[in-house]
Amino acid sequence: MTSKEIRSKFLDFFKEKSHKIVPSAPMVIKDDPTLMFTNAGMNQFKEFFLGNSVIKNPRIADTQKCLRVSGKHNDLEEVGKDTYHHTMFEMLGNWSFGDYFKEEAINWAWEFLTEVCKIDKNSIYVSVFEGSLDSDKLEMDMEAFNLWKSIVPEDRIIRGDKKDNFWEMGEQGPCGPSSEIHVDIRSKEEKEKIDGASLVNKDHPEVVEIWNLVFIQYNRKANGTLEPLPEKHVDTGMGFERLCMVLQGVQSNYDTDIFTPLIREIETITNTTYGKNEETDIAIRVIADHIRAVAFSIADGQLPSNTGAGYVIRRILRRAIRYGFTFLDTKNPFMFRLVNALVASMVEAFPELKEQRNLIENVIREEEHSFLRTLEQGLLLLDGIIDSTTGDTVNGKKAFELYDTYGFPIDLTALILSEKGLKLDESGFELAMKEQKDRSKAASEVSKDDWTVLMEDAVQEFVGYDFLKAQVKLVKYRKVVSKKEGSLFQLVFNLTPFYPEGGGQVGDKGYLEVPNGDVVYILDTKKENNEIIHFSKNLPKHPNEVLTAVVDKKQRERTARNHTATHLLHQALREVLGNHVEQKGSAVHSKYLRFDFSHFAKMTIEQLRDVENFVNMRI
Ligand code: SER
Repeated sequence: MTSKEIRSKFLDFFKEKSHKIVPSAPMVIKDDPTLMFTNAGMNQFKEFFLGNSVIKNPRIADTQKCLRVSGKHNDLEEVGKDTYHHTMFEMLGNWSFGDYFKEEAINWAWEFLTEVCKIDKNSIYVSVFEGSLDSDKLEMDMEAFNLWKSIVPEDRIIRGDKKDNFWEMGEQGPCGPSSEIHVDIRSKEEKEKIDGASLVNKDHPEVVEIWNLVFIQYNRKANGTLEPLPEKHVDTGMGFERLCMVLQGVQSNYDTDIFTPLIREIETITNTTYGKNEETDIAIRVIADHIRAVAFSIADGQLPSNTGAGYVIRRILRRAIRYGFTFLDTKNPFMFRLVNALVASMVEAFPELKEQRNLIENVIREEEHSFLRTLEQGLLLLDGIIDSTTGDTVNGKKAFELYDTYGFPIDLTALILSEKGLKLDESGFELAMKEQKDRSKAASEVSKDDWTVLMEDAVQEFVGYDFLKAQVKLVKYRKVVSKKEGSLFQLVFNLTPFYPEGGGQVGDKGYLEVPNGDVVYILDTKKENNEIIHFSKNLPKHPNEVLTAVVDKKQRERTARNHTATHLLHQALREVLGNHVEQKGSAVHSKYLRFDFSHFAKMTIEQLRDVENFVNMRI
């Protein structure tokens, strides 16, 4: 069966068992602070398990694009070195939300593997949770054990501990005991020499886990305790690439038809042959794997960048570029040329790849260009550092300079050094990093007096949308001294027309009029812990008097116009450059605005002009 047929067989099988087939959720997660990327098929159903969402379909099945490169599930360092781990992979899954439980999950998994896929029953091992004596105090999963006992001989049922047989999504969230299914694809002779049961979960490339059946029964809370869920659920996940390896009779995921088109393309572009030399093979596997992770992320709207999920993607791409550069002698961008082959083989299951093909190619090509430049420069500088090193340990301070001044990634420095049999003075590096952080902290140090409170329990009200002038009373004040701004007073009023800095817009300026006619200038307004704080150089002479607070109308109006202009600019950029453009920050002042956004290349003169025209037309 081709991989496409295998995917369809799985979905059809569960459709017949009354499951609704749903599309994969995005691989990049935007709204869950506990998770950056989808790391399992169940992520998108988390709220169903926890009972927070209404369940319309109690049975669901799909193929989910997953990425395991950060947090609790991180396989990055294994990828390429072995033949069965990936950054991005597809997880075939079936779910029950408070519907069927262990019996159906186990019987259907067995039926699919042995009757639909016709995997030899004697090559299958299963595992069940043996219980735990730690603070969770969990019992052995006898129910799963007995269900399996009626299907397979007892010596094929392995008891596993928490690490292998208790599945958790992350530090928090739904979890429960699991039952794994492993397949032994070794030759007959090998099987006779060593019993397959002893190789389960031992990182053997030909005795691999293909399916994990999780019986979701608990919620791991933020304080670390387990809370039983009101309903019991099923969450299964099968490694699609591994299933294809087993069914296509090959010994490596990279020899399935999922990867061979990519590998042929890499061979052609880099003029190498897969399967001749271990170093070259690792590099080819790394590239074939990483191009998928990067392309799928970009298709999901996550461009490489310097922070968060974008940084993870940048590092994956750079890891592949570096392997190509060092082991396949690729001195020019080449990975973007693999996108076509990838799209061709995946488009049916994941049409988003085709829709975003141009963007994916452009982003990857630009990243390759800029990283290859850094790489060349950095490698030269690193060579110089290595030449001046006596002994086997490279100075951490120098490695820090390479990182800080030239942007040369430290993990790359460490990797290159280890390949040359050298060590990095890691504590020296950490120290240099800390010294630099301390320096920038010292530069912005602030000392604050305690608040002088004039009105207890006052609740502050913002009236600045309707009024630019108001009678106010001082609730509290204090003096702050900072290296940058000298000495200032912070004032809090019972109500205020002053708009605090927020959403990129600067805070209002203005003045306070004191009954005798004196004025106190308000230099800035900010929000801190939900309080609006006004900054002034001096205090009103009689702090208990009623004051007239007046906002600088001209500045407020100009700033508001510039704020509107940022939204027009955002729209113009998306119109001219594409929908991948995302706002990354903004600073809105009365005299100018700055708008930070993500795009993969320098804008051309024409594009700049188009954006200007778009905005000016609308103004
Ligand atoms: N959540 C389980 C896993 O990822 C089964 O889908 O292995």
